[in-house]
Amino acid sequence: MKKLAYVLTLSLFTSISVAQADDAAGAKLYTEKACLSCHGEAGNKPIMETYPKLAGQTAAYMVQQMKDIRDGKRTNGLSATMMGIMAGMSDDDIGKIASYLANQAPAPAAQ
Ligand code: HEC
Repeated sequence: MKKLAYVLTLSLFTSISVAQADDAAGAKLYTEKACLSCHGEAGNKPIMETYPKLAGQTAAYMVQQMKDIRDGKRTNGLSATMMGIMAGMSDDDIGKIASYLANQAPAPAAQ
């Protein structure tokens, strides 16, 4: 029984550290791919009021939106702004960035 608790604890810690490593990689990509230049630090301060805040948004939703923009399935008025950046982005990178952004504190509501 003790051994089982030990194994369970160990696997819990392992999955937490994998999630943290993914978020760190996501944060790095977010900066390297210049996402920050439009969506602001930690996805919290978009440079235009018409650009979306991303911090605290559900990861699964963001993954879907990023894939749809990359694959040309989402073509809103402003989607073209994102397309160039998303082109060539792997599903793996998209997942890491989404996980990082989902774990950031949501931006305060506009005044
Ligand atoms: C040149 C400015 C610009 C850059 C750079 C940019 N984005 Fe965007 N992003 C936008 C705009 C504008 C939209 C809204 C697109 C639309 O209306 O279809 C958007 C939409 C999104 C969405 C969907 C949000 C929602 O609520 O549906 C996500 C997620 C996102 N961007 C993530 C990223 C990530 C990650 C990067 C970097 C890899 C990035 N963006 C780089 C301008 C930008």
